[in-house]
Amino acid sequence: MILLDKENKIFTLHTQNTTYQMKADQYNVLIHTYYGPRTDGDLSYLIRYADRACAPNPEEACLDRTYSLNTLPQEYSTCGVGDFRLPSLELELPCGSCSADLRYTGCELRRGKYALEGLPAFWGGDEWETLTVTLEDRAAQVSVEMYYGVLERYDLITRAVRVVNQGTETVRLRQCASLCLDFLRSDLDLITFNGCHLMERSPDRAPLRSGVQGVGSVRGTSSHQHNPFVVLCDRDANEDYGLCYGAALLYSGNFQAQAEASQYDSARLVMGINPYQFCWTLAPGEAFTAPEAALICSPSGLGQMSRQFHRAIREHLIQDPLAGKRRPVLINNWEATYFDFDAEKLVNFAKAAAPLGVELLVMDDGWFGKRDSDNSGLGDWVVNPKKLPGGLEALVPRIQALGMSFGIWIEPEMVSEDSDLYRSHPDWALRIPDRAPARGRNQLVLDFSRPEVCQHVYGQIKSVLSGAHISYVKWDMNRSLSDVWSAALPADRQGEVFHRYVLGVYQLLDRLRRDFPQILIEGCAGGGGRFDAGMLYYTPQIWCSDNTDAIDRLRIQYGTSFCYPVSTMGAHVSAVPSEANGRFTPIETRGTVAMSGTFGYEMDPNKTTPEEKEIIKQQVAFFKEHYNLIQQGDYYRLTSPFGSGPYTAWEQVSPDGREALVSLVTTSLQAAPPFRVLRLKGLDPQLTYQINGEGAWPGDALMNAGYPLPLFHGDYQSMQLYLSAV
Ligand code: GLA
Repeated sequence: MILLDKENKIFTLHTQNTTYQMKADQYNVLIHTYYGPRTDGDLSYLIRYADRACAPNPEEACLDRTYSLNTLPQEYSTCGVGDFRLPSLELELPCGSCSADLRYTGCELRRGKYALEGLPAFWGGDEWETLTVTLEDRAAQVSVEMYYGVLERYDLITRAVRVVNQGTETVRLRQCASLCLDFLRSDLDLITFNGCHLMERSPDRAPLRSGVQGVGSVRGTSSHQHNPFVVLCDRDANEDYGLCYGAALLYSGNFQAQAEASQYDSARLVMGINPYQFCWTLAPGEAFTAPEAALICSPSGLGQMSRQFHRAIREHLIQDPLAGKRRPVLINNWEATYFDFDAEKLVNFAKAAAPLGVELLVMDDGWFGKRDSDNSGLGDWVVNPKKLPGGLEALVPRIQALGMSFGIWIEPEMVSEDSDLYRSHPDWALRIPDRAPARGRNQLVLDFSRPEVCQHVYGQIKSVLSGAHISYVKWDMNRSLSDVWSAALPADRQGEVFHRYVLGVYQLLDRLRRDFPQILIEGCAGGGGRFDAGMLYYTPQIWCSDNTDAIDRLRIQYGTSFCYPVSTMGAHVSAVPSEANGRFTPIETRGTVAMSGTFGYEMDPNKTTPEEKEIIKQQVAFFKEHYNLIQQGDYYRLTSPFGSGPYTAWEQVSPDGREALVSLVTTSLQAAPPFRVLRLKGLDPQLTYQINGEGAWPGDALMNAGYPLPLFHGDYQSMQLYLSAV
């Protein structure tokens, strides 16, 4: 519920458990008064004023030395006019000044959720409310519309910003953040999610220290290295306790998330497009929209914060062509064949996989152009007739005849120099004049800031997808952007290329989604290099990591789960030893881990033993049977794979509390193991449960006293407990 007190210019956003408030003060500076557990009233009494040395005072308040932007909590921070903390907006004015100074001018409240042109955003109907607060920089003649979307049930507050040049001269945006959040305290921990290719999204938690700290990406993608999701929380917050603020940016390019602990123990979080090499020209009348940011505050721990994000993402961000239906269990040929496959091999895969219950065959990289290795072919999206004689028109019906559907891999943003596309359009690749471009995986990046490039690539892909019955597309992207310069833009607009590139990607994904509404799209970028809330708007699932080792995956999926739900995490069972690290794990354990993701296989089914086939059959059947619980259930992290404990455990509970699935994987082993119990969460204390069809276990006992764990024998054992209320 949004409350507008127009007279006192107080704007209060209530969600089920939280309250967010701002107030335009006597000088129309928009002050952030409060964000935390649900509270009523005017909270501006929290704002304190004092004459602090060296602090500038705005012109309106020049006789009042206690009034300074130097210390006041801002709703959207400015720069160059007295606030020295992290800026949100920086305008380069015709005179050369870089500054911004904003005053409140009006507000508007309506039912429903705002949308953003060309950008991903949470969506929904009348369960949402939208508040627009308008600020103005009079000297610059620039207005800033700030949008707030409130989804009460999930404690979700979304924010977006639109900057309009109302003047008669061109101005440039040097920075335009999506989110600014000021705190009247700095005794907080900052959690970020970091890693590299094969080891994405490990949580890193540290107390906020004086000064600026943060993460970001300058790679053109949200990146393997840092995720555009961060948490600020009480120092003693844990899964079940403490005030936690999660902030996700719906953006898949260069981002920045910075937190600053400043003087007088205040803090500020600013998140948005990375200002690195960003400069956007706004001619008179033009507008710029910054990507959406999503905030969830949980007064009761990190677990609740994650569950609220999961629900909101599943129900109000993802656009799932199979919504309400089960997504298919798939088999992908990549780790089993790499580039060495043909139609016969794929048909043999399907022949072996279909009887196991697998429903979708995904043909990965190597089916097009001249693509026998990763040195050539990207950009030529036409079937290689040597590998697939008769094309997809011949292959797909053969797969369908075996009872399976068919999916395909593409990497539309890339071009190999050894390709027909590059030979005919060398200027379509990003490169800086007179510099030899850096290659990554021996490929160049297409200039997706240019509509004609996107159009050409899309034309090819559309004709491939139209020629046969394709029900799934894996959209890959396998290198970071370097040599970012566009032949289509003048020198003074090169600062727009990174962002225009992302807009080009979004536009193409949107077209693909609209033209082929029945196709399930899985995002991918060298594994999990673009796993962000922006991509999830277009691709309901994203390949979590190229690392399919079950034990490393415990960490990757654990870190990912802080923001993103199980149903978004691409996860497969692959062969052992693991391609990523050489580890052997039992197939049961690999199944347990992959099942807390989208679930599928990435191995040659013809190379499995009869015993393994039987296990796979059971896994697939189990997954299908408990699909809703696994994919839509409330997710509890029971232990952390980053701790020193001997196992990692997690749990899904059905929203009505009548069913649960507990999964556990042992990660270290010793002889004479101690007797251990695992305390479960989220059950109904009044109910009694059967476990794996047996016994009568009271919910309160399982949560308070725990479940006695077996004495595991052997490396990397796993256990799944299916609980159902009797
Ligand atoms: C990336 C993906 C893999 C696979 C290869 C194909 O690395 O993450 O899953 O598709 O590309 O080249």
